[in-house]
Amino acid sequence: MKTIKLNNGVVAPLFGFGTYRINPQVTEKYVTDAINAGYRLFDTAQYYQNEAQVGRAINNSGIPRSEFFLTTKARTGGYEAAKKSIEESLETAQQDYFDLMLVHFPMPNYLGTYRALEETYQEGKLRAIGISNFGIGDMTKVIDSFATVPAVNQIETNVYIQDKPLTKFMNQHGIVQEAYAPLGEGTNPMFNDPYLKQLAQKYNKSVAQIMLKFLVQSGFMTIPGSTNPQHIKENIEIFDFKLTPEEMGQLRQLDHGTSSWLGYQG
Ligand SMILES: NC(=O)c1ccc[n+]([C@@H]2O[C@H](COP(=O)([O-])OP(=O)(O)OC[C@H]3O[C@@H](n4cnc5c(N)ncnc54)[C@H](OP(=O)(O)O)[C@@H]3O)[C@@H](O)[C@H]2O)c1
Repeated sequence: MKTIKLNNGVVAPLFGFGTYRINPQVTEKYVTDAINAGYRLFDTAQYYQNEAQVGRAINNSGIPRSEFFLTTKARTGGYEAAKKSIEESLETAQQDYFDLMLVHFPMPNYLGTYRALEETYQEGKLRAIGISNFGIGDMTKVIDSFATVPAVNQIETNVYIQDKPLTKFMNQHGIVQEAYAPLGEGTNPMFNDPYLKQLAQKYNKSVAQIMLKFLVQSGFMTIPGSTNPQHIKENIEIFDFKLTPEEMGQLRQLDHGTSSWLGYQG
């Protein structure tokens, strides 16, 4: 598994498993499938209501906790509510720490929420902190207000939604881009894109694998979700080939613009 070093020195897997919209009743099963397929990064959130099941699958895996990278996100707004909810998330997921905790959306009072995350980070219960769905304006406010620069901004990113100015800004500030909805939520017309199909044929891979490879080869942390064991296995089998610089350049041309969730206030 390829890894990436965050701006505080913490090393994270570049590729992982997202658990949005996975029903809590089946989350433990699919996270266990993913662990068996080789995934070690898992992404949950207070909002998904499956922190407990993700934590349980990790705790029951028989694999040392230190080999996992567990991310969750605070949905609460403001300092007091966030402080309380971080403790609740740790308790719910049965964890001594999270590897990464994000402010889920730039909700009103997001500076208070970030302050709660920063304090908990300083206490050692979060190994890294960051943000999600933050555009350049809100990111700038966080950078200007705190000693701890966000390690990650998790934003909607795929072949059709690349938002290059945002990527450039994050690169300049040492903030890693984490690509959510990397498959366009599975229903996107991207699956019929002729160039993606052509590359899939050339490399004897699926269109989904080409989409994911483009993102990890761009240096983005990438977290597809799935409740299909075949897809779970297929999605991680992208480390045995490499797209050429010309192909990466062509794929960058397929960009249609920006995420409509940037700046969403939850
Ligand atoms: N921070 C945020 O605000 C935010 C927002 C959205 C998502 N996220 C995170 O990002 C993760 C991924 O995003 P997402 O789940 O919304 O979208 P996604 O990963 O782009 O797409 C998931 C969909 O793609 C399908 N799929 C998966 N692998 C496939 C394959 N190999 N071939 C064809 N279809 C495939 C899945 O169906 P099957 O189940 O049938 O495989 C599922 O319907 C989430 O789980 C969550 O952790 C974060």
